[in-house]
Amino acid sequence: MSNYVIDGGNKLFGSVKVDGAKNAILPILAATILNNSTCVLNNCPDIVDVRAMVEILRKLGCKVNIDGSKIVVDSSSINTCSVPEKLVREMRSSIVIMGALIARLKRVEICYPGGCEIGLRPIDLHIKGLKELGVSIIEKHGFIHASAQKIIGTDVHLDIPSVGATQNVIFASIFCEGETIIRNAAKEPEIICLQEFLNSMGAKVFGAGTNVIRVKGVDKLHDTEFAIMPDRIIAGTYLVAGAISGGEIELTSVEPEHIQSVIGKLNECGCNIIVERDRIIIKRMGVLKAIDSIRTQPYPGFPTDMQPQLMALLTICEGTSIISETIFENRFKHAEELVKMGSNIRIDGRTAIIKGVHQLTGATVASKDLRGGCALVLAGLGAEGRTIVEDIKYINRGYENLDLKLNMLGANIKRID
Ligand code: UD1
Repeated sequence: MSNYVIDGGNKLFGSVKVDGAKNAILPILAATILNNSTCVLNNCPDIVDVRAMVEILRKLGCKVNIDGSKIVVDSSSINTCSVPEKLVREMRSSIVIMGALIARLKRVEICYPGGCEIGLRPIDLHIKGLKELGVSIIEKHGFIHASAQKIIGTDVHLDIPSVGATQNVIFASIFCEGETIIRNAAKEPEIICLQEFLNSMGAKVFGAGTNVIRVKGVDKLHDTEFAIMPDRIIAGTYLVAGAISGGEIELTSVEPEHIQSVIGKLNECGCNIIVERDRIIIKRMGVLKAIDSIRTQPYPGFPTDMQPQLMALLTICEGTSIISETIFENRFKHAEELVKMGSNIRIDGRTAIIKGVHQLTGATVASKDLRGGCALVLAGLGAEGRTIVEDIKYINRGYENLDLKLNMLGANIKRID
């Protein structure tokens, strides 16, 4: 088990470049199998989840070469439709390979994805969407066996604007007969990035960023080279690091539009934020104030993936803040760890009531999921004394060199393996 040891209290100053987005590259890596040819991806983050998806592609028979932040995938040598169980159980987002394999091979065998750490996270909408496209699905002994003679474009209405279900239905429709229309589709920026990637290979996907997406079937796709968008959750995380530490941090390679909801909440706390085209500067101005109400919502609402980090900040904001988690039913595990650091948090169902304290104190805390673990690191930065964040494997799933980058800004974090 690896841990972070954080000696808190340092103000952070300096500049940090935001990496490519985890939630954009994972579906894009899955989609590289669609063109039966080569994809060159730039600005790829070196994180555990990306390595897991690359491993899945290799196990399917693809040739993958990683050179720094460039990943080249040659999918012409795919030789199986069976996705390795171990890797799928490790990473829930691997489920998007299902739609891509259906489109490419008309057949897939995959187990139910793992990772229930923040809630039930069913995949019923993925399955329902594929069935509506004419895919036959048999669910047996924890495995999904899906096959199709041909995919026929149709209207698919998603009951919830699920990001993963939207991606799976888009993938399965890429070579469909006619046109698929996805209604109540997810509007996340990563879906726009995916549409741009698919269309750069010759696909015909329209409407990403709105709640109606159209996919016109094409016969085949071609080679492409594509750059992954910046990670909006990493950007938000560094903004909170600046706010919590009380310094001044500049973010570069960022898309401010994608994190307007986060910037808005940090402004409400009393942070001074300067926004330029692809740059954001955050400076904390004195004591921060609580926020009456935050509700996590699908984009462009406040992202559930920023809820734990913002909670870490609110623990030291003057007054009482209220967070409602509307996306995942079990996403407050970090709260009990933050309490060990002296915060005053009460959980009532899907609501967290946070009474600000003057300062947190260092403690040994356990990281239980990716964003929650990161929230504990942020809390440790602002806490008095030493914080040990145990079991950082979750954090490494989504952050490349978090410790080194924070140390470059003046933090004092050691990784103990
Ligand atoms: C994606 C993101 C994740 C983020 C989440 C919500 C990736 C790789 N991951 O996850 O970081 O936290 O969006 O913004 O992009 N649901 C169902 N049935 C389904 C599918 C989803 O009921 O078949 C529910 C989920 O339980 C959840 C809600 O829909 O309550 C949203 O989930 P979804 O958008 O699918 O999240 P993911 O795609 O898993």
